[in-house]
Amino acid sequence: MALTLLLGSLPLPSQAGPEEDRLAFVGHYQSLFPEVPIAEYANGIYALDEDARAQWLAIEDFPPYEFSIERGSELWDTSLPDGSQLTDCLGTEINKIRPQYPRYVPNQGVVTLELAINACRSAAGAKRWDYSSGDMIDLTAYLAFEARGQELNVRVPADQPGALAAYEAGKRFYYSKRGQLNFACADCHVTSVGQYVRADRLGPSLGHPTHFPVYRSKLGGMISLHQRFFGCVRDVRAKPFELQSEEFRNVEFFLSYMSNGLEINGPGARK
Ligand code: HEC
Repeated sequence: MALTLLLGSLPLPSQAGPEEDRLAFVGHYQSLFPEVPIAEYANGIYALDEDARAQWLAIEDFPPYEFSIERGSELWDTSLPDGSQLTDCLGTEINKIRPQYPRYVPNQGVVTLELAINACRSAAGAKRWDYSSGDMIDLTAYLAFEARGQELNVRVPADQPGALAAYEAGKRFYYSKRGQLNFACADCHVTSVGQYVRADRLGPSLGHPTHFPVYRSKLGGMISLHQRFFGCVRDVRAKPFELQSEEFRNVEFFLSYMSNGLEINGPGARK
């Protein structure tokens, strides 16, 4: 009986479109935590855990990611080898850049902000940045900061079959069991959300993409969304995927769509 109820509440409608999926996804968390306003999910686990939230608010008094934003702003103003600047390629309205990603581009697949930055650098004769490099993370921290308050608004255009395919692949990835521990992302972040895994409390996936990159006090440094994906895949002892691999870009696309309407509030601070 309990099991039937649990499965009954799993937001996994096989034939539904992205918008039905999103409503079911949001509805799942709403029915588990009716007292939590939807907008709060942009804060991840802090939406659900009062103690962790109090510690986090204290940390935010002196944000540990501030140095990263400053460095990102310097990088933004640095000229590229051909004399152009990133703003010439990515856009002049700085608060509108982060919200345009991830997006589907025919023949390219899901283009994330990181991919777009590297494409611009490459076109201007600069070296591509490594996806785990400090430069890449600092620049995305700066662009996230400038976009604070803008809403995620990912599109899966009906006239682009590739977009729906990428979305479906991301969704499949999210619900597929993997690794020696045989866990899907959804097992922890949907079905068992709010429960403890050793000292860690499982946070909701609704809102996962809003606050990256994040400063992690455990690591003493900043990490990207894909580095976090990488860590969660490694933790279930599964085959790792590269940062910005098609798999991770598709799951970012899916999760960002699920979080449509939530405010971008990066960079963040986490344990
Ligand atoms: C065995 C349980 C488990 C599985 C499976 C798992 N995670 Fe996690 N994940 C965690 C824990 C614990 C944390 C840290 C607490 C939190 O914020 O949820 C975390 C954190 C995260 C975060 C950072 C949240 C934040 O606000 O900073 C992201 C993003 C994430 N996971 C994505 C994924 C994705 C994508 C998958 C599937 C590839 C996945 N996780 C699979 C346990 C898991």
